[in-house]
Amino acid sequence: MLTKNLNQKITLVNNSSPYQKFIRIYRWNPNLRWNPWFSIFPISINNCGPMILDALIQIKNLQDSSLTFRRSCREGICGSCSMNIDGTNSLACLRSLHTKNTFITIYPLPHTYVIKDLVPDLSNFYAQYKLIKPWLTNKITFLPSSLKENLQSKADRLELDGLYECILCACCSASCPSYWWNQDKYLGPAILLQAYRWIVDSRDISTKSRLNFLNNKMRLFRCHTIMNCSKTCPKSLNPGKAISSIKYRIVNN
Ligand code: SF4
Ligand code: F3S
Ligand code: FES
Repeated sequence: MLTKNLNQKITLVNNSSPYQKFIRIYRWNPNLRWNPWFSIFPISINNCGPMILDALIQIKNLQDSSLTFRRSCREGICGSCSMNIDGTNSLACLRSLHTKNTFITIYPLPHTYVIKDLVPDLSNFYAQYKLIKPWLTNKITFLPSSLKENLQSKADRLELDGLYECILCACCSASCPSYWWNQDKYLGPAILLQAYRWIVDSRDISTKSRLNFLNNKMRLFRCHTIMNCSKTCPKSLNPGKAISSIKYRIVNN
């Protein structure tokens, strides 16, 4: 197996052409007592799928099976493959391999604890998500007579556009300087956008307590409108605007 992998690697290198790319990847393994290092892998874009994730999968299959990264859906839905690609937080499955750069540099999401290679520890991120109670609260009891649809007007439903599409990839939070320095207390753009998704849901009855919970100088007001979050979101959402809307509601309530 090892010989086969080596032969395939040699073939790839020998086939170098204008279509050759080099993927430079941050590596770290907690089981090796080494400092982090970079590995550089040649990829022929003629023999690879079109996205950065295709290149990572090919590298893992053909060149280095120890390379570690998260992925699942490979179409921008699950949010697993978030990483920093050429300086921008993004989803590897949505970023094209066909750039003009010969070298493509990949790091894990910045300012996160790294579990291994490109896999960040998102435990704190998910614990913060739980804090905002990301579910609908309403008066429906589970008596058979009340088992009916909880309807919304079209206008109310439209309020959720630009919010429900968030896939919790954490690209925005990992691009926010306020979150880099205070992620133990500040909720960050992804979680605040999710919080706003429930605040504006016309069917939810906990708007006041949701706003009360967020009315805190660290949880919400640590956002200084830097707007890196909205610039980086791979789903083209606008967490900075959602945060401003929460602030506006708190100040005007
Ligand atoms: Fe990812 Fe965008 Fe949601 Fe942030 S707002 S978690 S960048 S999808
Ligand atoms: Fe950070 Fe976005 Fe606010 S980058 S400071 S959360 S507007
Ligand atoms: Fe699911 Fe990239 S693999 S978003």
